[in-house]
Amino acid sequence: MSRGLLNIALDLCYLVYSLLSRKNSDTYQRLINEIVEFAPCWFAASILLDFEKACINTLGYQNRFQDVKFAHNINKIAGLAFIPPCDVLHAYSRLALDLDDDYQDILNYFEDTYIGRLRPNNTRRQPTFSIEFWNMHTRTTQLSTRTNNSVEAWHRRIGYVFQCAHPTLWSFLQKLIHEEHAAHADVVHINSGEAPKHKSKTNERFERRLLNLLLHPHDDILMQLNNIAHKICL
Ligand SMILES: *[C@@H]1O[C@H](CO)[C@@H](O)[C@H](O)[C@H]1NC(C)=O
Ligand SMILES: *[C@@H]1O[C@H](CO)[C@@H](O)[C@H](O)[C@H]1NC(C)=O
Repeated sequence: MSRGLLNIALDLCYLVYSLLSRKNSDTYQRLINEIVEFAPCWFAASILLDFEKACINTLGYQNRFQDVKFAHNINKIAGLAFIPPCDVLHAYSRLALDLDDDYQDILNYFEDTYIGRLRPNNTRRQPTFSIEFWNMHTRTTQLSTRTNNSVEAWHRRIGYVFQCAHPTLWSFLQKLIHEEHAAHADVVHINSGEAPKHKSKTNERFERRLLNLLLHPHDDILMQLNNIAHKICL
């Protein structure tokens, strides 16, 4: 059974931790239905799904992240989220040709989940998650409710907290409790009118530079992915 972690943030106050046996859209849909049943008055403006880094770990890549070039290339794959939806298929094909066999497993995973596997007749199957569902380009350029700095910082922290591949149930619960305390402290901090502690100047600068890049993209889509990859970190 794989462990899926999904979190939902609203007004930075409500966090839902859930352990999912699968990561397909049916499972997510069922979870959302359960939550709506549990809290019928809840009208979410947006939901943040944490498409976990765990899949990268299960593919056996975790140690290779020390390798700067490897990590940069993985960021290019993730950078597809910031390419306009209509250009994603083209960008993905260019990137897949550009990366060598070391990346085949992760490309297969990415293709099945987010792009759609290529059929012999050159059409694509339905991916698990459609491009419109996961793409961040429009949301970023419209500066709407994109995962914002503090939530991103939180994601990074929880990713770090759960990095151990198969925590025992007990240490897992310990970490959740610890995380819950940290999240609570942040909420109190924000409610008192202060900026979230983790929101750093570096993050803001990062976001501005990313936005600038999306508004003035490089003509060559591989170069654009390369530039985006320098601005994001998983
Ligand atoms: C960040 O999140 C908070 C709380 O959800 C929201 O009020 C704020 O508008 C967001 N900022 C941006 C730039 O989206
Ligand atoms: C390609 O194959 C799929 C699945 O058999 C089929 O639905 C589709 O119409 C085919 N497209 C072309 C252009 O041949």
